[in-house]
Amino acid sequence: FGLMTYDPAFMNTAACRSAITYIDGDRGILEYRGYPIEQLAEKSSYLEVAYLLIHGELPTQPQLDTWTHEVTTHTFVHENVKEFMQGFRYDAHPMGMLLASVGALSTFYPEATQIKDVDLRYQQIVRLIAKMPTLSAFAYRHNRGMPYVYPDNDLSYAGNFLSMIYKIAELKYQPDPRLERALDVLFILHADHEQNCSTSAVRAVGSSQVDPYSAVAAGVGALYGPLHGGANEAVLRMLRRIRTTDNIADFVQGVKNGDERLMGFGHRVYKNYDPRATIIKRAAMDVFEVTGTNPLLDIATELEKIALEDEYFVSRKLYPNVDFYSGLIYEALGMPVEMFPVLFAIGRTSGWIAQWLEMIDDKEQKIARPRQIYTGGRERDYVPMSAR
Ligand code: CMC
Repeated sequence: FGLMTYDPAFMNTAACRSAITYIDGDRGILEYRGYPIEQLAEKSSYLEVAYLLIHGELPTQPQLDTWTHEVTTHTFVHENVKEFMQGFRYDAHPMGMLLASVGALSTFYPEATQIKDVDLRYQQIVRLIAKMPTLSAFAYRHNRGMPYVYPDNDLSYAGNFLSMIYKIAELKYQPDPRLERALDVLFILHADHEQNCSTSAVRAVGSSQVDPYSAVAAGVGALYGPLHGGANEAVLRMLRRIRTTDNIADFVQGVKNGDERLMGFGHRVYKNYDPRATIIKRAAMDVFEVTGTNPLLDIATELEKIALEDEYFVSRKLYPNVDFYSGLIYEALGMPVEMFPVLFAIGRTSGWIAQWLEMIDDKEQKIARPRQIYTGGRERDYVPMSAR
């Protein structure tokens, strides 16, 4: 192969230098800009974490106030974006709607193509963080056949999102602070995860110097897949299919036979407990104190226990990942499964943007263009249709 390295799925290739997120998969460590995820999940807010990821440092109070104000005043979308979304099939998957509508934003802000202009670029960053919850909530309401609800800028980032989802008619929506906080923590936990599939997609597409809306649309597309952002949806479907704890043993045997995967387990990088799973499990318990328990939680807890003691999972270092419990929280918050990857996308947007910014300012980066090992035929003469 000459100097080329054959590395399918880039299992062993560092495609960039990055100062954003540190993961030690063997020890179960995750840090954003050097700060442990446990401390951020306990003490920070999603908008503060988004600032940290994008700017590299925690904000001072005035910086956080300005950032929060900027994001909050950009939550509305152009009416034509709403019209555009109304054109989808009545039962369109909200993730497909989000993918298309975030890409469509590029046509509303044509100046976004000027990615080297620092001020213009910053405007798009604020818009993306601000509008992702609005597009997501519109997609939800569309899928439910309900009228879209405009943002309520008196509320927090998570509170406003909940309002756009659940507000009824003219009544002011007041989120339960514990549920609002749980959602904010979930956004923090999903904010970045270094060179995962969707972030690599954002970087690869962004490396063509396209505008950030198109690059983020690529990220949403990657996150749509069941092995990535779709995993939390798949976990819920799996738990529902198992139905009772009595069926767990048969299900686990099927996984070991290779019939299917235990969704929410395993990770390309973590070969230990995913630190986000520990935090989410705790958050799930907090949420269930408010909403009442869910029988699927018993199945999940028992399934986790059995898998962690089973030789198949132990020998392959398969532990619960972030998605094993997140779906249960989303369901407790009243979200349908189709919304789970959408919620992941809202949180991950700050990470995508931080990685996109780092990539376009990195002098070592060029357009992403992997090589290949060609395995097809060579130098064949064209065969006329009559002779085939
Ligand atoms: N259930 C059963 N077996 C598994 C699983 C699983 N969830 N994950 C991996 N394995 C087995 C796999 O069959 C293989 O066994 P063998 O060596 O006998 O062939 C071995 O473990 C290694 O698996 P792999 O497919 O080479 O591992 P990978 O690093 O390519 O896959 C993964 C990582 C996350 C795609 C995979 O673990 C998986 O499919 N998990 C279920 C889906 C899921 O929960 N995804 C969410 C990931 S976390 C959120 C995110 O970042 O998107």
